[in-house]
Amino acid sequence: MAKLLIIYHSQTGNTEEMAKAVAEGAKVEVTLKKAFDAKAEDLIACDAVAFGSPTNFGYMSGAVKDFFDRTLPACRGKVDGKPFAAFASMAAEKRVAIEAIESIAASFGLKKVADGPLAKGKPAPEILDECRELGKKLATG
Ligand SMILES: Cc1cc2nc3c(=O)[nH]c(=O)nc-3n(C[C@H](O)[C@H](O)[C@H](O)COP(=O)(O)O)c2cc1C
Repeated sequence: MAKLLIIYHSQTGNTEEMAKAVAEGAKVEVTLKKAFDAKAEDLIACDAVAFGSPTNFGYMSGAVKDFFDRTLPACRGKVDGKPFAAFASMAAEKRVAIEAIESIAASFGLKKVADGPLAKGKPAPEILDECRELGKKLATG
């Protein structure tokens, strides 16, 4: 496994902390991209991808949804079977953002390889450990 891409949005830093822990666990070449800056070519070029989002209004953040909306046409047929996992932060809403990302990622042809961690607010140390484990899992296929 050569390249792991992490696409995330974070307004107050919770999801960003998780994204950095995923990167830390991977121990391979990692590209951390804010969702508004991420492009179709980034997804096409990576070997595995993690998506991170806060839970906003019972869904993934608009920034992460914007990435999917912008890049589907260019990615069609070019990312089939690529491993992915989603992680999220929330206040109280359970796994809705993760499930929403998983549903859209499946329509890109990506293959889910793990149930990603969900943090309530600032991620606890054990959640950050789970993020590191997720990075390791994605990096080792
Ligand atoms: C506009 C907005 C909408 C939100 N909606 C929800 C929600 O529907 N359910 C929930 O559990 N948390 C909700 N939250 C809380 C965030 O998901 C939570 O604070 C999260 O940790 C923020 O992550 P971040 O620090 O990466 O931005 C909302 C926060 C904002 C700013």
